[in-house]
Amino acid sequence: MKNYAYVMAILLLIVNCKDINEIKPVNSLKSTLKDNFYIGTAMNESQIEEENPVVTALISKEFNSITAENIMKSMFIHPAKASFDFKLTDKFVALGEKNNMFIHGHTLIWHSQLAPWFTEIKDSTELANAIEHHIKTIVGRYKGKINSWDVVNEALNEDGTLRKTVFLDVLGEDYLPMAFKFAFEADANTELYYNDYNMTHEEKRNGAIRMIKRIQEKGIKVDGIGMQGHWGLEKPSIEDIEKSILDYASLGVKVAITELDINVLPSPWDLVGADVNQNFESSKKMNPYPENLPDSIQTKFAKRYQDIFKLFLKHQDKIGRVTFWGVNDGQSWLNDWPIKGRTNYPLLFDRELKPKAAYDSIIALKLKQRSN
Ligand code: XIL
Repeated sequence: MKNYAYVMAILLLIVNCKDINEIKPVNSLKSTLKDNFYIGTAMNESQIEEENPVVTALISKEFNSITAENIMKSMFIHPAKASFDFKLTDKFVALGEKNNMFIHGHTLIWHSQLAPWFTEIKDSTELANAIEHHIKTIVGRYKGKINSWDVVNEALNEDGTLRKTVFLDVLGEDYLPMAFKFAFEADANTELYYNDYNMTHEEKRNGAIRMIKRIQEKGIKVDGIGMQGHWGLEKPSIEDIEKSILDYASLGVKVAITELDINVLPSPWDLVGADVNQNFESSKKMNPYPENLPDSIQTKFAKRYQDIFKLFLKHQDKIGRVTFWGVNDGQSWLNDWPIKGRTNYPLLFDRELKPKAAYDSIIALKLKQRSN
């Protein structure tokens, strides 16, 4: 009898645990959002090297897409005209494949973090050949493995005109269709994106639309537009984000939200007449939360992420991927940009790798959907 009660107790426990697991509807971002869009993170060098096993496990648990934060930029992957460095990029791609992730390549043609040898070329044929070699070698190496590429990054000024770069100077605007064409020739099945920041600003948005249309009119494939989500607590408005998603989607391309982080610190550009200079670095005004984020801001931050994701879910048919620019607050580039050495809190995981209220606020959206 005693044995019987014991067995029953254990059985009850097992049944209950099973129920608990079934009721517990989510245990990660990727499982919560699996029917909506890929959810990704940028990985820095240490994460690609798998230096911290807790971070490695967290990334594969939470995310089903990865982007390399820096190592695929031309100054790292193609440091000299005659030499490529694929050591880390091979590792990054292998990691994504091992975890069955959607792998995004960032970025082929960009004026920043540019291999210096590019800027020495003044002849148009030589530069076109160099671009072709750069794109085809990299995209070709990862053909069938890298699912999408930022072919061109940040080619636009804020007023929607084309940014003055070595590419524009030497080749004129032809460098744009050229880059997309070379990428297509290297891997016809990978998705080809244009990626930029401030893509919710009207003038820049109109410029982006004009630019993409001109490429499409030449019969060249553009699969998507990446809106870098380097956003703040208030701006851009949900209305402007929505309008931009709709306008870009009307070009017949996919939209990706790339590089998402919500900056909670004051911006030097908000100070009228102020320069971004060293004086700010030690200023308490510009680094107001060196120890921790006040509860009131944490709540606002969680609500902001919730509002943004609510919008993404509303337009999930247009959005293929949402990628955070990093895993946790400690690794974010926003601790050092645009002012060095601040303490910022832009991501879903804190410095101890614990999920923040903003994480729960995103998950809660889906729980609400399910119970409706
Ligand atoms: C940033 C990285 O996060 C930093 O580590 C690096 O020092 C500078 O570049 N737009 C982009 C990204 O397309 O590649 C940038 O990443 C952030 C802005």
